[in-house]
Amino acid sequence: MQSIFRYPGGKTRKRVREWVLKHSPPDSKEYREPFVGGGGIFFGISPFENRWINDKDEHLISVYQALKDKPDDLIAKCQSVAPYKKRSGDEQEYDRLEKEFNRIAFDDNEDKAFRFLFLNRTVWGGRVNYQYKSRVYFSNPKGWTDDIIDRLHQAKKYLKNAKITCGDYEQLLSEPGDSVWIYCDPPYVKPFKGTSSLYRHDFNDEDHARFAEAVRRSNHKIAISYEDDQKGVVRSLYRGFDILETEILARIAGDGAGIGTIVHHCPLAPVQPPRRRQAQQRSCMPTKPIRAG
Ligand SMILES: C[S@@+](CC[C@H](N)C(=O)[O-])C[C@H]1O[C@@H](n2cnc3c(N)ncnc32)[C@H](O)[C@@H]1O
Repeated sequence: MQSIFRYPGGKTRKRVREWVLKHSPPDSKEYREPFVGGGGIFFGISPFENRWINDKDEHLISVYQALKDKPDDLIAKCQSVAPYKKRSGDEQEYDRLEKEFNRIAFDDNEDKAFRFLFLNRTVWGGRVNYQYKSRVYFSNPKGWTDDIIDRLHQAKKYLKNAKITCGDYEQLLSEPGDSVWIYCDPPYVKPFKGTSSLYRHDFNDEDHARFAEAVRRSNHKIAISYEDDQKGVVRSLYRGFDILETEILARIAGDGAGIGTIVHHCPLAPVQPPRRRQAQQRSCMPTKPIRAG
């Protein structure tokens, strides 16, 4: 299914999902996603019985949690704001939803999950950074159409048995488990500071280095999407790992920045015996496998 969110850097496109999932180990029993964001990959995965998603953004996670614990309440709340109906030459619809937006956006007493979801669907760029009020403005009435309710009904099935946490990624990398596969999509290396921040919680250079250390320490099989930054930060942090180049995986609104690299990490046992792995890499168009360092 499609993600229920509009998420900066989201990995929801079909080709992107296929690319990431192509690199999942075939024998995994548990899926973990420490930087779930809009769940571009998570909502493309159903076969794993054990799924653990996490993000540091408490407002975002409140939506996943509400869909798991009290989905009908959240859906009823969403239905209380009528969806956008396009009628030619009718600006009333735009004005009506803009009014709702301005009422909900800065009301701290509003239901946390509903507030985040409604804003995310209708705000400029899908960015809900309450700390930068000047960037929280209405721009996308078509984000609030009928199909969001259908998607919420589908999404609650995905979340029914999922473990959901809100916090730092590290626990998901370190906690033991049986045949765990972890997909990581950390914030960009390219800095988006202040009002141009994509997320409530971003990464600086030290954060990228700390994350690479945590990946090295982990006993699980891990795949990471990263941009192939011009300074070569990713390539130097992941020296010795398999780096698989691909086309751009995501674009950021108003910016051409894209992700071009996946680092595949299998510290204890290879995902597959090396021969088979090479054959699989060759079959992945337009992959160009290289080994860093
Ligand atoms: C590139 S986005 C993930 C996008 C996601 N793959 C999708 O398809 O929508 C990165 C996410 O990392 C989260 N994040 C930032 N710092 C974090 C941390 N220390 N621990 C966990 N999540 C963090 C951000 O809130 C953001 O949602």
